[in-house]
Amino acid sequence: WPDGTRIAGQDLVIGGVPATQLAARFGTPCQVLDERTVRTRARAFRAALPGAEVVFAGKSLPCPEVYRWMAQEGLSLDVSSAGELALARAAGFPATRIIMHGNVKTAEDLKAALEHGVSRIVVDSLDEITQLGALATRGQEVMIRVTPGVDAHTHAKIATGVEDQKFGFSLASGAALEAILRVVEQPSLTLVGLHCHIGSQVKHVASYEQAVRRMAGLIASCGTRIDQLDLGGGFCAPYLKGDTDFDLAGFAHRVQGALNYECALHRVPPPRLLVEPGRAIVANAGVTLYRVCAVKESTRTFVAVDGGMSDNPRPALYGAKYAVRLVGRGGKAKPVTVVGRHCEAGDVLAENVLLPGDVHAGDLLAIPATGAYHHALASNYNQVCRPPVIAVSEGVARPIVRRETEEDLLRRYV
Ligand code: LLP
Repeated sequence: WPDGTRIAGQDLVIGGVPATQLAARFGTPCQVLDERTVRTRARAFRAALPGAEVVFAGKSLPCPEVYRWMAQEGLSLDVSSAGELALARAAGFPATRIIMHGNVKTAEDLKAALEHGVSRIVVDSLDEITQLGALATRGQEVMIRVTPGVDAHTHAKIATGVEDQKFGFSLASGAALEAILRVVEQPSLTLVGLHCHIGSQVKHVASYEQAVRRMAGLIASCGTRIDQLDLGGGFCAPYLKGDTDFDLAGFAHRVQGALNYECALHRVPPPRLLVEPGRAIVANAGVTLYRVCAVKESTRTFVAVDGGMSDNPRPALYGAKYAVRLVGRGGKAKPVTVVGRHCEAGDVLAENVLLPGDVHAGDLLAIPATGAYHHALASNYNQVCRPPVIAVSEGVARPIVRRETEEDLLRRYV
């Protein structure tokens, strides 16, 4: 739950605003985002890593207003397409603090990045190095994405550090070294750093420690000065009771220590660290409100709501688990399965969760930890309009993404 969330009567108060009021005013489903929690977590990264550049992973919650908060908190921004860059521009995000990522950047993506003057582009293939080399004119700063061969012990679909992988240049095979040489050969490009991202929802500091050791070895052996080492994001967020927060202090201590040690050993100056948190900043700031539309007693109790996999495909994609709370009243609990409105049997939001036994149509449900990769992954499946994102702060609620309408939907059809 967002910081400071409390129960008042049986209502749930988020950012000082009762959930029943939010649902009545903005409708359901509705994604609520607590601004203070977002800012506090952004600050926590900067405080834990004072020497590092903290880069918000814009893909986790693409929204100009959220990007503005990040700019104000002194973070940089990572964008992975011309579209995310357009949002950053709309937010007035300083180009000197924008980094562009992606294993595929189309000519349009690269041109947009160059035109806007983004500070660094992280290259991910030899084709891209050639293409960018031809398009760039003024010594565009570049980082190279490396696959360090680290198993981050996370879901296979979000594990990006292992060798068998579409992302990055393999360290073990020598591809990373070759990419370094290729960038150095391009007169229009300036190599400033190396990058790796071992995965998402990573729980163990040890995985990063292993990555930093390998990357330091590459920096020492590549024969070129490397000023920046970007360790990507992936820091886990708690979803269920009992899940713990990422050990940020342990990360800062052990990763910076390992980097300093390896660099001293190899007699190279330690590069400046960068980190790219997304989920760890926004996940726990978000709560989604749904209205119960039907309850069906069958092999089990199905509680069907007015949203589903179009606003949260994460259970279907990654087997992600969520907690659910009934807002407005209590009662003797029984296990139920909360399902969505979409035409798929796999459209399940939460299995085997406890809700009051008399849960019925019209009830309001709240699902926490929905700030990261929810608005970002939302779709129009079944031509259901995407929900709004409502920012709450000190008792004030305001939409920062408005609800999609049928007009929005129809606009694209010819
Ligand atoms: N940097 C790079 C290069 C990335 O690819 C990502 C995420 C991040 C940083 C931020 O990772 P985070 O700190 O948020 O874990 N849709 C999936 C997550 C995909 C992550 C993609 N890349 C999910 O819902 O779990």
